[in-house]
Amino acid sequence: MISKLSSTALYGIDGFVVDVETDISNGLPGFDIVGLPDAAVKESKERIRAAIKNTGLAMPSKRITVNLAPADIKKEGTHFDLPIALGILAASGQLEISDADKTVFFGELSLSGDLRRINGALPMAISAFQKGIKKVFVPKDNVKEAAVVEGLEVYGAENLKEILQHFTNQARLSPVSVDIDEMLKESEKFVYDFKDVKGQAFVKRALEIAAAGGHNILLIGPPGSGKTMIAKRIPSILPSLSFDESLEVTKIHSIAGLLSENSPLIAKRPFRHPHHTVSSAGLSGGGTHPRPGEISLSHNGVLFLDELPEFRRDALEAMRQPLEDGEITITRTSGSVTYPCSVMLVASMNPCPCGYYGDKTKECTCSQTQIMKYMSKISGPLLDRIDLHIEVPAVKYEELEAKESGETSLEIKERVSAARNVQLERYKDSGVYSNSQLTPALMEKYCTPEPEASELLHQAYNSLGLSARAHNRILKVARTIADLAGEKNIKLEHIAEAIQYRALDKKFFN
Ligand SMILES: Nc1ncnc2c1ncn2[C@@H]1O[C@H](COP(=O)(O)OP(=O)(O)O)[C@@H](O)[C@H]1O
Ligand SMILES: [Mg+2]
Repeated sequence: MISKLSSTALYGIDGFVVDVETDISNGLPGFDIVGLPDAAVKESKERIRAAIKNTGLAMPSKRITVNLAPADIKKEGTHFDLPIALGILAASGQLEISDADKTVFFGELSLSGDLRRINGALPMAISAFQKGIKKVFVPKDNVKEAAVVEGLEVYGAENLKEILQHFTNQARLSPVSVDIDEMLKESEKFVYDFKDVKGQAFVKRALEIAAAGGHNILLIGPPGSGKTMIAKRIPSILPSLSFDESLEVTKIHSIAGLLSENSPLIAKRPFRHPHHTVSSAGLSGGGTHPRPGEISLSHNGVLFLDELPEFRRDALEAMRQPLEDGEITITRTSGSVTYPCSVMLVASMNPCPCGYYGDKTKECTCSQTQIMKYMSKISGPLLDRIDLHIEVPAVKYEELEAKESGETSLEIKERVSAARNVQLERYKDSGVYSNSQLTPALMEKYCTPEPEASELLHQAYNSLGLSARAHNRILKVARTIADLAGEKNIKLEHIAEAIQYRALDKKFFN
């Protein structure tokens, strides 16, 4: 007898429906799985055999052949255990599955027949739904994650037995639903708030601009000046995630196995803070079974590289192109996958090895050569991808002691969101979302400054010895400053302010 059930598989961050066909015929007892299964899928035979037996059912001692179709795409993971086990039970007449053509199954089995949490439940559920599937059966630990897909009936089971009892009408499972609005409300809550940061008006202003235009930013300052403290507060002033953005972020975390049962939807912009010893694959993604790296886990949020010169040069260099493109393609013998990585890069560093070059209170003990060597650890092309470079001086004692707290993150976020909305409206047919993503053609169209502003930029270009890239960065940042001010045109004061955020090119990097 033959049975046919459906499951799903992942390709990058998207899933596709896989047919699980099971044939049981007379002949020498055996169990084969065909259709490009990887090692994990092949191993499922032993788990399935034990799980069926320990659920009190019979593993047919006949010739069992399972085909995973389409057969030309590699199938990875352990989540085919459940559909294969059910396929065997159906093909051997021990179970009848209703609505099989509208249902998908995925889950890993333990030897005792328990269902274990799997990675990628959300993207698999989304793609199944898009292909017209109405119901999914998943391990109980994955149920909330899959239930985020509106319109899909999602059933969670502890073990194989519960699924049997459901289809034999002994004990029906009920579909689970989650409150998405409630989950999205989480996005408004942040532990770290800008009101705790005393003084540093200039730094806060620069961060507001960076957040408003989605610009990458580099913070340079002595130890203890609050660089890490400030960076951690950036997500709290970024515009809230839309539901679609939230789904994208959650899909990537789902694949990486980073979702927990209680936080099935990521409603806040990610803030990733990898240690400087991170490998190139850890940062950009990769490995034998390609996995999203830190840069993709920060998609739609902030990637914070604290103490930038300490990072491995190869890891930073590999990140350059993805930063520009907003996506990264990982090529392996098993095929290539693409993960999105549209991030706001925030980096911090000391100005020199001792940390006090240019500081007003402490003397720097480094030689000129030491400083140059330290700064040159960061390549020009990477620096060029950072729109704003700002100095974070140590906070003044009087400011630190001041009792009144600063502006709250929520107040800053309102201005940031307003400026972002202006950009979304302006670029709605252009395929970009913020000023930082502008292409040269779009810059031509939207970033032409008024004549006197243009003149100022010309002077600065010559006197500061700016690169052509730096020139474009200034224009984009000036566009954001104008948007924050609610101005249609880029005026003199906008260009003047934007130039300040490049002034360090000359001080530190020449
Ligand atoms: N502007 C500030 N307002 C309030 N506290 C500050 C400020 N700057 C620094 N601090 C305090 O100093 C600590 C060290 O700052 P940190 O962010 O670790 O500095 P850095 O990363 O620049 O070395 C912070 O945790 C905070 O307690
Ligand atoms: Mg720090």
